Amino acid sequence: MAIHDDIPPPYSMVGTHGVFPKANHDERARFNFLANLNKHVAGTLGPGNRLAWEKRAKPKFVAERGREPVDRFEIRKAMNADPYHRFWSALKRNNMEMRQQNGRSIVLRQLDDLDARAREASGNGAGLELDPSITIPRYQKAVDIHCMPGSYHGEERPGDVSAGANYDCGIFVTTGGGMGALSDGGGQALAKWARETRPGWQPRRILDIGVTVGHSALPMAMAFPDAEVIAIDTAAPVLRYAHARARSLGVNNIRFIQANAEDLSRFPDGHFDWVQTTMFLHETSGIALPQIIREGARVLAEEGLMFHLEQPQYTPEMPLFEQFMRDWDAFNNNEPFWSAMHAVDLHDILADAGFPAASQFEAKVKAVVDEAIFPPSVEGEGEDFGRAAVWHAYGAWKPAAQAREAAE
Ligand SMILES: C[S@@+](CC[C@H](N)C(=O)[O-])C[C@H]1O[C@@H](n2cnc3c(N)ncnc32)[C@H](O)[C@@H]1O
Repeated sequence: MAIHDDIPPPYSMVGTHGVFPKANHDERARFNFLANLNKHVAGTLGPGNRLAWEKRAKPKFVAERGREPVDRFEIRKAMNADPYHRFWSALKRNNMEMRQQNGRSIVLRQLDDLDARAREASGNGAGLELDPSITIPRYQKAVDIHCMPGSYHGEERPGDVSAGANYDCGIFVTTGGGMGALSDGGGQALAKWARETRPGWQPRRILDIGVTVGHSALPMAMAFPDAEVIAIDTAAPVLRYAHARARSLGVNNIRFIQANAEDLSRFPDGHFDWVQTTMFLHETSGIALPQIIREGARVLAEEGLMFHLEQPQYTPEMPLFEQFMRDWDAFNNNEPFWSAMHAVDLHDILADAGFPAASQFEAKVKAVVDEAIFPPSVEGEGEDFGRAAVWHAYGAWKPAAQAREAAE
């Protein structure tokens, strides 16, 4: 079914599997409204922020200070007093809260059934290794991350899958379907990137850090069926759901392990050929991030790939207004590390973890477009209608010891 270019795909196009929450008519209608509102707030109302800045807040700032702002924080302070930005921000925040409420109410009313379906799909539980002794890091539990009630680790009752189910059923709405029916276009893009970048490469073991429900890990595991994928996360409810989801989708070469990526001592040096994080680093902390990269570097084999998909870092070339807009989530969407993380120098952190500058690279990775949702245009095969999310990747190929020593 073709869809209109200007509106997000209807929720009836979401991809389902054995543990996917079932939405009724009203719940789907609510999600459709929210996906459209989200797009309207971002695409139609969003540009009004620049107008408010240029025409009102900036002239006021300059008149008062006798100079232009020097950083994104000064712009934020000025814009937080601007009526248009306040209105836009409140709308955006409320939209996110409503999306969480709808997902959560869909999940909670059928939680008995979801838990039962998850247990059935997980079978004897082989490939799911939970560790109740794990301490949830403060950066995960201090706030409800992006307004998810209870964050990733919260349980409505012990042993449930509520957090995973809510995350999975709502992401199609938040992304306007841009990551495909199963919201796995990012993972598919990763696998495609790896195949194109290193043709014939056969990683033996892949570590996916911060797997959540497996939107990235599953396509990687499917692209490299002979690899053993180890997918770790600190949060048990998302891991339970991820395991059941993978089994229900027929993916069996992933082991889901509850572990904190700051301490990978369960794995020997050089154990993995590929260490991956996807939209993960910004949800850690200033102390945890370099520690996770150091541990990832240790468990990575020589000539192995370390790859981090994120939004682009703030560089001196990025206009301050853009930095301010990109910072919105840090101050309004419970992403406390977002701002600081995007300002750190990931190249320095990678270098400190043992990757010389020559081994590092940056790349753009574009989500694979789901043509069942966004059919290619007649003239332009592969046209993505601008719907595909694009990430910025920070990566490195681990040099052999000799090369590392020579570089030092
Ligand atoms: C934004 S989600 C990642 C999304 C996922 N990578 C994907 O592609 O769909 C962040 C995840 O990282 C997990 N997490 C946060 N800190 C962690 C840590 N120190 N070790 C392992 N997992 C962590 C959270 O529980 C959450 O599930």
